[in-house]
Amino acid sequence: MSTTPATHRAPAPPLPPGAPIRPGAVPQTFQNPTRVITGEGCAAEVGPHAAKLGATKVMVVSDPGVVRAGIPTSVIESLHAAGIETLLYSEVEPDPRIELVEATLAAYKAFGGQLIVAVGGGSAIDVATATAILATNPGPLRSYEGWEKFPNSPDPLFALPTTVGTAAEVTPFVVITDAAAKFKFTIGSPKAAPMIAFLDPMLVLGLPASVTAATAMDALTHAIESYTSLLSTPISEGLALQAIRMISANIRIAVANPNNLAAMNALLIGANIAGLAFSNTRLGNVHATAHPLGAFWKIPHGVANALMLPHVMEFNALACPLRMIDIAQAMGESVAGMSMAGTTEHDAALRAVQAVRRLEADIGIPARLRDLGVDKASIPDMAADAMKSANIAINPRKTTINEIISLYESAW
Ligand SMILES: [Fe+2]
Repeated sequence: MSTTPATHRAPAPPLPPGAPIRPGAVPQTFQNPTRVITGEGCAAEVGPHAAKLGATKVMVVSDPGVVRAGIPTSVIESLHAAGIETLLYSEVEPDPRIELVEATLAAYKAFGGQLIVAVGGGSAIDVATATAILATNPGPLRSYEGWEKFPNSPDPLFALPTTVGTAAEVTPFVVITDAAAKFKFTIGSPKAAPMIAFLDPMLVLGLPASVTAATAMDALTHAIESYTSLLSTPISEGLALQAIRMISANIRIAVANPNNLAAMNALLIGANIAGLAFSNTRLGNVHATAHPLGAFWKIPHGVANALMLPHVMEFNALACPLRMIDIAQAMGESVAGMSMAGTTEHDAALRAVQAVRRLEADIGIPARLRDLGVDKASIPDMAADAMKSANIAINPRKTTINEIISLYESAW
């Protein structure tokens, strides 16, 4: 096992310039407040759990595509069977804006809801979480940007993911777009993590290949960035490696056949495990550079991550070659005998980058930013926004704005 240095959980104390960081030198925390229920058909457990909380009015938050596919039906039926009144709110859009959260809150208040159940991808769960926060805190939402900025516990929230990526069902972070500022901001607090996550593979069966590919690449990026984060701990490392194994072993199969229950279940659980890891370590330069691609060019989050991932891994390999070798091995690469063959540790580390590039080609991820309509002239502005991300400081290789510009240019 490699020995990337670790500091403690966010917010990390400032270190004097040049100070050595030793694993275990500062207190480290591992916390995951969400109860996780897994298994085929577990969505039917939502009603009994809501009844146990004493809820009589529950708002189900989803998006139009998920509702058209009939996915929330099993959840709503289980709530009705428990004698609970429901309101289905299905206005969620990708890259949700502050205004959408405010509209959701108005519907929730008018209904008199006591519990929110999110059925959807990261956007639906983020909107539901932000709504639950504003139900008990005066706002405005943007004033809660950062870590532990809102005072009151949100209304209770259950989450059922219908994609295999964000792990929003278990993370303490919410990402909302400030459209006026063209900026995605993050609200984080252990209180923001959903109360219960239900991972029902029946809800992701038949997912379109492009959605599986993009969201599973988001999950793989979470696991890889968590494993190389300067905040990683022995606990998070075990979770991150297991997530890399499960996701990389099943992603091709699930893209090829979305009705393969075992593969979809493995991706759903792998993504969740990656979420448990990165909730405690944050991420790195991939997510820092991916968020501006979403805010400026509406590139789906998973695709933006997938595009930046090999470039950032190549950049980071210099800083943490042993970690990269671990990642290569977790992805099924063999690095045995590479030193005897006269290659360097760095060459072995780059096997992880090659594995990611091959995987992305196999599952149809676009290779270049220019193919997605990104104007090269926007790179300096995106780089300036990327530098505002708290993920830059915990990336394993120290990064300047010029290096962020170079990363965007190589991906372009
Ligand atoms: Fe992500």
